[in-house]
Amino acid sequence: MAKIIAIDGPSGVGKTTTSRAVARELGIPHIDTGAMYRALALAATREGIDTRDEAKLEDLASRTRIDFIPGERARVLLNGEDVTSMIRSPEMSMAASNVSAVPAVRRVLVRLQQDLGRRSGGVLEGRDIGTKVFPETPYKFFLTARPEVRARRRHAELLAKGEGASYETILVGTIARDEQDSTRADSPLSFDDSYTVIDTSDLTIEEVVERIVSLSS
Ligand code: DC
Repeated sequence: MAKIIAIDGPSGVGKTTTSRAVARELGIPHIDTGAMYRALALAATREGIDTRDEAKLEDLASRTRIDFIPGERARVLLNGEDVTSMIRSPEMSMAASNVSAVPAVRRVLVRLQQDLGRRSGGVLEGRDIGTKVFPETPYKFFLTARPEVRARRRHAELLAKGEGASYETILVGTIARDEQDSTRADSPLSFDDSYTVIDTSDLTIEEVVERIVSLSS
C-alpha cells in the first residue's frame, strides 16, 4: 500500500503547516481532511440546515459532492465550486465540528479520504486518521500543545488575514471546539499506544517536521 502518515490532534497545534512540510519532504500529497468537514458545513449553512440536524445532514451528505485536490495550493470543491478560502472562518470551524459529529457525514467523508489515500498515499491530517481512517498505518502522530499556545497561534493566523477576533474569544472557542470533538460518540479525537505523541508547545515547526520525517522512513 502507498505510504500513509496520520497526523491527528486538536486545533492550533500546527497540524497543517507540519503536514504540508512533511508531505513535501516525502514527496507525497498532503490531504487536509478537516477541509472536507468544513465544505459540508458550508453547504449546510447555505441551505439553512441546522448543523446539528442529523436527518437533514444525512440527506445533505448523500447528495453533495466534495472533491479535494491535493497540491502546493490544495483546493476543496463543493459541487464543483472552489470554496477553499470561504471555509476558513471561525463560524465555519464550529459548524464543521457540529456536522462532524454526525455518523452519516463521517461515513461519506471517511470513504472519500480512504479512496484518496489508497490512490497516492499521503500525509493525512485530522482527528481520527490513525484510529478510524487508516488504523493499519504504522506512521501515526498525535500533536498536542497547551491551550494558550494553540489560541495564540490561531489568533496570529487570523490577524495575518486581517480578521480581528480577540485572543480571549479565540481561547474560549478553541477550548469549546476541542471539548466537542473529544467527547462525541463517533470517532472522538483520541490516540492510543500506536501513536507517537509530540507536544509542539516549545518546538519549532522544523523540529516537529524533522521528528516526523525521521520516524516515517
Ligand atoms: O482541522 P479543522 O480545524 O479544519 O477541522 C474542522 C472540524 O472538522 C473539527 O473541529 C472536527 C472535524 N474533523 C473531524 O471530525 N475529523 C477529521 N478527520 C478532521 C476534522
